[in-house]
Amino acid sequence: MRTVVRAKTTAATLVAALLASLGTINPALAQDESLSELMAEGRPLYQDNCAACHGDRGQGTGTAPALDGNVNLESRPLIINQVLWGSSEHGMPPFADVMTDREIAAVTSFVRNAWENEFGIVFPRSVELRR
Ligand code: HEC
Repeated sequence: MRTVVRAKTTAATLVAALLASLGTINPALAQDESLSELMAEGRPLYQDNCAACHGDRGQGTGTAPALDGNVNLESRPLIINQVLWGSSEHGMPPFADVMTDREIAAVTSFVRNAWENEFGIVFPRSVELRR
């Protein structure tokens, strides 16, 4: 497991270094997902998949709780599990089969940092580990 992870990281780092040396991308962005990048990807995913229940500004609706100002979102495991597996008894669908790790990282990074929230990034790797 450890070897695989390290091999992947090394390959990604090499590709990033190569692209950076060609002057095509900023090396900092090539090596890591930046929060602003994930937020930009997460915003439309939120509008399409979450806003109907949670409100277009995360204010909550009669169906689902507010996500803006919701301190439960501070927990990465909680939010990742909630989006992966949903909450069938309480009316939230699972997204494990319809979103990639990166999409779940993007939408969870979005809700953790949109509106008044400032809870930080969720990496695709953290989603992968909870599948
Ligand atoms: C069909 C309605 C519905 C949709 C669509 C939906 N949710 Fe939910 N969500 C809920 C409900 C209902 C709850 C409360 C579940 C519970 O009490 O266990 C919830 C709970 C949550 C929680 C936990 C909040 C807390 O205080 O613990 C998070 C985080 C969350 N949703 C994020 C999302 C995200 C992100 C999406 C889109 C990818 C999404 N939800 C889509 C209905 C929905």
